Amino acid sequence: MNFISIRLTTISPGLIVPFNVYIKVGNNFFHYLHENDEFDSTRLDRLRNKGVKKFHINSNDEIKYENFLGQQLENIQLNPETFKTSLALDVSENSADMILKDANNEKTYTLAKFSSDILQKVVANSDTILRGIVTQSRTGSTDLASRIQAHLVNTVSISIKFADELKSNINLNALGIAAFYHDSSFTQFSVQDQKLFFKDLKEMNAQELSIYKAHPEKSVSGLQDKSFADKEVLELIMTHEEKVSGQGFPRKLTKLTLSQEVLSLCAFYDREVTCLGKNPQEVLDAIMIEQVGNYNLDLLKKFKAFLKKYL
Ligand SMILES: [Fe+2]
Ligand SMILES: [Fe+2]
Repeated sequence: MNFISIRLTTISPGLIVPFNVYIKVGNNFFHYLHENDEFDSTRLDRLRNKGVKKFHINSNDEIKYENFLGQQLENIQLNPETFKTSLALDVSENSADMILKDANNEKTYTLAKFSSDILQKVVANSDTILRGIVTQSRTGSTDLASRIQAHLVNTVSISIKFADELKSNINLNALGIAAFYHDSSFTQFSVQDQKLFFKDLKEMNAQELSIYKAHPEKSVSGLQDKSFADKEVLELIMTHEEKVSGQGFPRKLTKLTLSQEVLSLCAFYDREVTCLGKNPQEVLDAIMIEQVGNYNLDLLKKFKAFLKKYL
């Protein structure tokens, strides 16, 4: 059974849970509440006192989960920023997790779309939430799959917020879904080749480069024959490593739409930080020197002014 996780910080006492609730102890999941039971304050306090931070639901209950999130969203503006940050982290981590396990399933795609929509609503009106997401998802990651998961979550959040601030006509939903999926092919690579996602391109040999440069196409390949997948999303995934200098891959394009350039820049920045472990401020400074020509100067300047607020 696969599980969707939900932070306890998003639950108010008295909530009637619309799904079966499981608690993870060690590597095992224990059934804790039945569907339609009440999450009363005694139960919540007992879990919190034991240091439990999340509960879990069966991933087959994803429709109930989406309905539940819909209700949470109705009152989102009334809730504190910590609640909104937890909610945004929950939905984006669950989506990234499902993408890494089963990318080309319609359920996964629908959840990514839903999460992208929630992130737009949550990050649009707040500066502290993006900082919260980026900081939390980065610190929790140890194994490679978790770090890629964090990289997907960050890339989605940063690109949605940046595109929103640009006040352009970028399709934020397509951008968000593509950001979730951009490196989804990670799990298709052998354990050995997965390490390339954490290696600087400058340090790769010719064989490693040719393996790594296939990843955008691999991320698209499982989705391209699916009727539920949006063409704009597929094109964005395919071009997320392209640069306007023609130095990107796989097609060495020299013309990118604003949406393509935004995704490429945000994914590049967060790879440097989350995957290669570099210091965010140093990455931002280096981008303004080394990436001139790879991205339009005006966009780089706007990116620096935008991101400085969250470092
Ligand atoms: Fe990539
Ligand atoms: Fe990436």
